[in-house]
Amino acid sequence: MQKEKKKFVLKRFTPYMGSKKALLPLSLVLTGISAVLNILPFVLVWYIIRDILSAPQSIDVSNVSFYAWLAFASAIGGIIVYFCGLLSSHLAAFRVEIGMQKVGMKKILSMPLGFFDKHSSGKIRKIVNDGAATTHTFLAHQLPDMAGSIVTPIILIALIFIVDWRMGLASLLPIILGFITMRFMVSSEGKKFQKKYYDSLEEMSSESVEYIRGIPVVKTFGQSIFSFKRFYNSIIKYKDMVYAYTILWQRPMSFYTTIMQAAAFFLIPMAIFLIGRGENLPLVFADFIFYILISPIFTMILMKSMYFQQNTLIAEQAIDRLDNLLDYPGMGYIENTKNIKNHSLEFKDVVFSYEGSSKRAIDKISFKLNEGETIALVGASGGGKTTIARLSARFWDVDEGEVLVGGINVKDISKEELMDNISFVFQNTKLFKGSLRENIVFGKENAEEEEINKAIDFSQSREIIEGLQDGLDTVIGSKGTYLSGGEQQRIVLARAIVKNAPIVLLDEATAFADPENEHLIQKALKELSRGKTTLMIAHRLTSVQDVDRILVIESGKIAETGTHEELLNKGGIYKRMWDEYQKSVAWKIVSKDTVNKGGQNA
Ligand SMILES: Nc1ncnc2c1ncn2[C@@H]1O[C@H](COP(=O)(O)OP(=O)(O)O)[C@@H](O)[C@H]1O
Ligand SMILES: [Mg+2]
Repeated sequence: MQKEKKKFVLKRFTPYMGSKKALLPLSLVLTGISAVLNILPFVLVWYIIRDILSAPQSIDVSNVSFYAWLAFASAIGGIIVYFCGLLSSHLAAFRVEIGMQKVGMKKILSMPLGFFDKHSSGKIRKIVNDGAATTHTFLAHQLPDMAGSIVTPIILIALIFIVDWRMGLASLLPIILGFITMRFMVSSEGKKFQKKYYDSLEEMSSESVEYIRGIPVVKTFGQSIFSFKRFYNSIIKYKDMVYAYTILWQRPMSFYTTIMQAAAFFLIPMAIFLIGRGENLPLVFADFIFYILISPIFTMILMKSMYFQQNTLIAEQAIDRLDNLLDYPGMGYIENTKNIKNHSLEFKDVVFSYEGSSKRAIDKISFKLNEGETIALVGASGGGKTTIARLSARFWDVDEGEVLVGGINVKDISKEELMDNISFVFQNTKLFKGSLRENIVFGKENAEEEEINKAIDFSQSREIIEGLQDGLDTVIGSKGTYLSGGEQQRIVLARAIVKNAPIVLLDEATAFADPENEHLIQKALKELSRGKTTLMIAHRLTSVQDVDRILVIESGKIAETGTHEELLNKGGIYKRMWDEYQKSVAWKIVSKDTVNKGGQNA
């Protein structure tokens, strides 16, 4: 990988160009030719001036006008050829841009679902879309200019020494000084700095997306941006970075700009010196004019090539980021699925650690959930319950052991087949922008009206929909239509009921519901899991009393297992949890009574 990164940047773009790989070289050749055509007029003008100055009495007018026309034709030709060069560079750039996006999107589709927890949508978007756009600017505009920036200086240096090497040296001196400064600026130190700069820009961009997502919370709790420490820090980091960046470039840049424009200061003394030595005055003057004309071009080209280095770096980093994404281990979904034999779910000695964590989130867990059974996972927060649910839906691949659905390793089941068989309702499941109907039929687009109605009733969503002016066609988020967390959860349940998958994963689906919603959601969950293979995670122990089995999960291991009665008799962790739970329920009832009494007395 490290070696690959050192590859010349153009080589890294060619794979995305498809069959038209010649476009880019063609564009470089054309812009190179146009660079030659652009210099030619200067040489011709120099010829004309020489002729006029050296023999003013006997000017050959036809000769002069021939040179003049040639200069004109060459300038026009230069523009036309340059245009053709840009045309082919644009064609190449569009191909690369689309190619990169395609490859990126395809990769994203193969990512483990868990990938999206770690990588904000802002960041992913930046890698795929912005990266492709950056390379477009580079390939379509900056690269063709590079051909000019290479061809022009070579011709110029040759010319500069052919015309008069002494004046050539005088005009080159400031440029050499400027060039050395430029090298210093884009030295490896500067490069490192740039990388940090773009990294911090990216960080700020992705944090800002998270921040905007969190604005409702910020508003509700009357907080300021300071509560979004990470976003705040990323802004400060960026600010410091930009400040340091500016300071670093301040002096060399002023020196560079000044010296590059200073050719005349070196040329005039040289011309005076040459005339003083008795050289032909008109010829020295003609050469002087030539150098005055030509040195700004040289300056301009070098200025361009400075940005070129910077732009190459930006393009390189864009493709680095895409490469990193492509290097991320995808899931390797198989196309030819093995048929599921039944709707059981089984963990066999499963071990799993999150990326970058040395701790096992799941530490050799085995259990089997037969078709139609319900098991509940309980235990303190951080034990690994959510991870178990997610591994069941193959959000990630396990490190050791196997997750089997219907007796088949989930790795041997195609993504479509797996998703057809599993429904999940997680704490943070959100509705997307669209009508309620679209949200409900999301998992099964050809659902019959009857199924939808049944799901609405079973999920206790009827009253929500009837309360909305446009009913099922109400678009969430439009015209101030807003559903509470509990209401959203019920719609999500309706979606799962319509989908009617035989295996159901529920992760603390009631956790954020208010008491009124909780009761309704409980009812909806019962409907959803009726007759299904169900893995549920619940922190309110009432809902686990009649499940087939309870697994108590602690530190990634199964600490206890059994039915509610068995676990109570055992007198272990579950018994303690249950006693705590009873106390809290009792406390709630007592406090409610007190409040009521207080109300009556008043
Ligand atoms: N996306 C993640 N990246 C890294 N570690 C995680 C991630 N999600 C959970 N963990 C860690 O894995 C362990 C189990 O977490 P989790 O399955 O969410 O527990 P539970 O649902 O029982 O509260 C915890 O130590 C938690 O910090
Ligand atoms: Mg959890």
